[in-house]
Amino acid sequence: MNRPDTAVLAARQAGLRRALMALDVGTLVVTRLCNVRYLTNHAGSAGIAVLTGEGLHLLVDLRYSEAVRQLQDSPGACPDLSLHVVEGSGSYDESLAACLAETTAGRIGFEANEVSVSRHGRWSRMLGALDRPVTLVSTEDVVERLRMVKDAWEIDALREAATRLAPVAEAAFQAAQAGICERQVAAAIDAALSGVGFERPSFDTIVASGPNSALPHHHPGDRRLETGDLVVLDFGGVLSGYCSDLTRTVAIGGLTRERAELYNAVREAQVAALAVVRPGVEAWQVDAAARDVLTRHGLGEAFGHGTGHGLGLTVHEEPRVSRRRDGVAPEVLEAGMVFTVEPGAYVPGLGGVRIEDDVLVTDEGCELLTSVPRVLQTLG
Ligand code: GLY
Ligand code: MN
Ligand code: MN
Repeated sequence: MNRPDTAVLAARQAGLRRALMALDVGTLVVTRLCNVRYLTNHAGSAGIAVLTGEGLHLLVDLRYSEAVRQLQDSPGACPDLSLHVVEGSGSYDESLAACLAETTAGRIGFEANEVSVSRHGRWSRMLGALDRPVTLVSTEDVVERLRMVKDAWEIDALREAATRLAPVAEAAFQAAQAGICERQVAAAIDAALSGVGFERPSFDTIVASGPNSALPHHHPGDRRLETGDLVVLDFGGVLSGYCSDLTRTVAIGGLTRERAELYNAVREAQVAALAVVRPGVEAWQVDAAARDVLTRHGLGEAFGHGTGHGLGLTVHEEPRVSRRRDGVAPEVLEAGMVFTVEPGAYVPGLGGVRIEDDVLVTDEGCELLTSVPRVLQTLG
């Protein structure tokens, strides 16, 4: 698997230290696994990273210790790393307390969205036993905010992941035929994702046909595709840890005028949203551009989700491209952000349409990372 090299990780860690300085926090305990990976290249199912002013402590158990040692002998080595191995008879929390005891940290940040109340209580008791005063400081989204603006390595990974969806879409279009059931189409999509080298799907593939297309996150079932159906095909793959996400809505045979108009309205909404993406724009304005078009078509109520979401090590991350919310500071778009633009309209009894692409914010506007035609495909 491709990984960022030591210099990329060093830049990320330096960025995090700057962000922590603004919070007057010298040490951050990172328990969210995608954040651990972002900072260290350790991609296991368990691990804790502790970033201090001088280096980074990585706690892993015996399932991963040898893999981390090998990683440290590779170009993807994590800079200034001290490895702590949690023995089979010990616990991560005990190892964390021992690790923090070795440092001089006074104000220790933790990721409030990740640490349970009971774990926080345990950490407080353990740290209270240290021979110096220590304060646990609640932080939110510190690493997530860094991850929101992608570095060059991530942009390459996301561009490659999005590009590889084109042949998968072709396979999906071939599979989506009258008489074939949704689950078979989903299986063909998943096989194509694997066939072009994705590590796994980014999420459970969605194939929603006919009346089911009015359910935005329908789970593919036994329904067989029929002439006249709208079929929503929503899929993505993970490449080098990075997620892609694409939706196309296709027609089986001809469409009624009403369904064709539904498709055209959503397409117009997506074009309008894409046209406003550029640095300095607030994310809600992209959502508003799509929502205004659908509202003009009488479909405002039929668009019940946000226009998009960030893509990266997770499939749904910042920035959220959704309605402006009172009391929440708007997210301002910056070059290097990558997110989806996916307006939809869902009308029970008629059907649903969603069209989704992945974009990179550039200095001038945006680059479409996905490259699958958006004209309505009429399949057999
Ligand atoms: N299928 C998940 C999404 O498009 O966000
Ligand atoms: Mn999707
Ligand atoms: Mn999406």
